[in-house]
Amino acid sequence: MARPLIARIDLAALAHNLGVARRAAPEVKLFAVVKANGYGHGLARVARALRSADGFAVLSIDEAAALRAAGFTHPIALLEGFFSVDELADIARLRLRPVIHRADQADLLAKTRLAHRIDVLVKINTGMNRLGLPPKRLADALATLRAAPQVRGITLMTHFAAADEADDGGVRQQLACFRAATLGLDLPVSLANSAALLRHAETHGDWARPGILLYGVSPFTGEDGVDLGLLPVMTLESRLIAVQFVRKGDGVGYGPAYRAERDMNVGVVACGYADGYPRHAGTGTPILVDGHPTRTLGRVSMDMLAVDLSTVPGAHVGSTVTLWGVGLPVERVAAAAGTIAYELLTALAPRVPVEET
Ligand SMILES: Cc1ncc(COP(=O)(O)O)c(C=O)c1O
Repeated sequence: MARPLIARIDLAALAHNLGVARRAAPEVKLFAVVKANGYGHGLARVARALRSADGFAVLSIDEAAALRAAGFTHPIALLEGFFSVDELADIARLRLRPVIHRADQADLLAKTRLAHRIDVLVKINTGMNRLGLPPKRLADALATLRAAPQVRGITLMTHFAAADEADDGGVRQQLACFRAATLGLDLPVSLANSAALLRHAETHGDWARPGILLYGVSPFTGEDGVDLGLLPVMTLESRLIAVQFVRKGDGVGYGPAYRAERDMNVGVVACGYADGYPRHAGTGTPILVDGHPTRTLGRVSMDMLAVDLSTVPGAHVGSTVTLWGVGLPVERVAAAAGTIAYELLTALAPRVPVEET
């Protein structure tokens, strides 16, 4: 038998989650955000399951080229635009929609001859202070782009810093800034990520950009995807490859960061940080053995981790272990590890075999 670790990807769940986004924003076109290898789920596979989306959003030309090579003809947004002017020929050839987030990008684009006209998204910094033109630079950039024969459609965009927070003050402020900056402009807009799409209908605009919700994960702290009607897409599953009986006071794993509080059985799971399981997940991180909730013990090793079998008395070598997914929301594992589900999913290591279900 091969090493038992496997990531099961439920394609029907992806399609279901896209349906949740559609119902939450029925009038809106959706750029399915599939950057970072489809949030760790596999770019082409995710795109196939989400082909009824209106477009895709990626980070790099390589990702966009892979989608085109796989036959997708959808609009594709490049969320960080172009990094250097030599990319513009490929952007035009592949008919991509770069985000223009600095004034010099608008100038460069206007100066560069292209084989086809392209659509662009013009990003405005409304308070996140990551990417985007300051509102006062927008008019000049738009004038440059509108005068450029190589530019066809323009969509205005921004990104929310705190749409996932219960206090909606941040969204209100950014939205007010966006509205003031774009007053009188008759152009399509793209504002909402998953959290804004689900909770802030006033941000829906023409194009939304849901990412994490498509993968069945809640964008909101303290709520799991299942609470929002989403279905988990990735289930990371393995098996026990050893069971150790340890006496009270014995150490488990490196450090040892855990010492047994009592005589107990400890299971050894084929999954470690080189598979993408977070090393900083300490003792007590939730995990399922044969479907029973239990906890991890001690430090995660490169290829293995230890689990408490006190509450799973029938567990044996070969027992199924769920690291996250169906039955154990990845949000819970992420919270226990002091991180977010985005990081866990996107960190799945290439060495983990994937099975589509
Ligand atoms: C510009 C932009 N739009 C949309 C998204 C999707 O966000 P989420 O996964 O929270 O829906 C991201 C994700 O990082 C992003 O950077």
